Amino acid sequence: MPTKILAIETSCDECSAAVIAPGNPYAQVLSNTIFSQIELHRKFGGVVPEVASRNHLEMITPVIAEALEVSKTKFSDLSAIAVTNTPGLVGALLVGVSTAKAMAYSLSIPLVSVNHLEGHLHSLFIDGQPHCKIDSTHLPLLVCLVSGGHTNLYLIRGLPPHALGAELLASSRDDAAGEAFDKTAKMLGLPYPGGVFMDQHSKTGNPKAFHLTRPLTTKADQKNFDFSFSGLKTAVLNLLIQNGFQNPDKQKITYPKDQILADYCASIQEAIVDTLMIKITGALKKTNARGLAIVGGVSANSRLRAKLTEQISVPVFYPQSQYCTDNAAMIGACGLYQFERGEVLTGAKILTLAASSS
Ligand code: KG4
Ligand code: ZN
Repeated sequence: MPTKILAIETSCDECSAAVIAPGNPYAQVLSNTIFSQIELHRKFGGVVPEVASRNHLEMITPVIAEALEVSKTKFSDLSAIAVTNTPGLVGALLVGVSTAKAMAYSLSIPLVSVNHLEGHLHSLFIDGQPHCKIDSTHLPLLVCLVSGGHTNLYLIRGLPPHALGAELLASSRDDAAGEAFDKTAKMLGLPYPGGVFMDQHSKTGNPKAFHLTRPLTTKADQKNFDFSFSGLKTAVLNLLIQNGFQNPDKQKITYPKDQILADYCASIQEAIVDTLMIKITGALKKTNARGLAIVGGVSANSRLRAKLTEQISVPVFYPQSQYCTDNAAMIGACGLYQFERGEVLTGAKILTLAASSS
C-alpha cells in the first residue's frame, strides 16, 4: 500500500489537516485544508487562547473530513497520523493531539509527534514550489524562521529523507519579529495580524521618516546572532507619545493617518527588516553557508524579500505563501520522514503522547 500520512496542526490560530505522500524529490501534498481563526481573534487585537481552543474543537472534525475528501483518502488508506505536539498554546495543541491519538489508536496505525518548528523547516521540502529547489549543493543551509512566535536562525546540514540536523544558532531573547510587527501595528490602529497591513501601508511610506533603533546590532552585539525586538515596541510607543498620538495614561488615543501612517509603517518595517538583514548577513559569513532559506509568516514580507534579492549573494529560497503561515502540509512533510525513519509511537505508547507549550 502506498504511504499516505494524515497531518494535523492546531498549535495556534490555524486549524489545519493535510494528506501527504512521498514525492520527487521531497514530499507531495495531496490536500491541505486550513481554517484560519484570524477573524475571530481580530476584535481582541490578538490571539485569545481559550477562544482558539474552543474553535479548534468545533473545526477539527470538518477540517480533517475535507482533507481526506479532497485527497480521495479513506481511513484504511492511511499509513500513519502526524500531529504537532509542541510548542504552541497548550489548550489548542491538546485538541489536535487528542484527535490524532484517538484516530491512530482506533485505526491501529502509528502516531508521529512533530515539533512545530521542525515543521516550519520542512515547508522547504514540499514539491512543486518554484522558489524552493534545494539540493545538496546548498548545504550547509542557513534558515531564518521568522513568525509571530519565533525568530530563530538554524544551520541545516542534512536533507530529507535524513534528519536535517538543524543546529539552533540564534533566537530572540524576547519578542519575535512577527510580534514586533503585530504589536506596533496595533499602536498605529491597524487590524490584527498587523504585519500584513504594515507591509501594505509601507509601500507608499518613507522608510527614513522616523529613525528607530536596530536592536542588538552594534559590533559588540554581533558576536552572537541573537535578536531582541521588545525595545523597538517601546521606542515606537515613545515616538507616538512625543508626536501627540498616544496619551501615556491611554485616556485619549489618536492614530496617524494617510501619509504619516505610511511613514510610520515604512520606518518600523525598515527597522525590523534591517535588523534581520544584519544578523542574516553576519551568520552567512560566519558559517560559510551555501544557501539561505526564509520560512514562517514574516517571510511573506515584501521589503524583506526585496532586500534579500538585492543583498544576498548565495541562492535564497522561500516556501509558497500557503506553506509560510501555519499549515498541516509542513507538519505532514516532517511527519512523513520521521515515519520513514521509524520515529513513531505504536500500540499503547500512542496514548502517552502529551501536548506541551514549550
Ligand atoms: O508563521 P505564522 O503564521 O504563525 C506563527 O507560527 O507565529 O506567522 C504569523 C506572523 C504574524 O506576526 C504576521 O503579522 C506575520 O507573520 N506576517 C507578516 C506578513 N505576513 C504575515 N509580517 C510582515 N509582513 C508580511 N507580509
Ligand atoms: Zn508557526
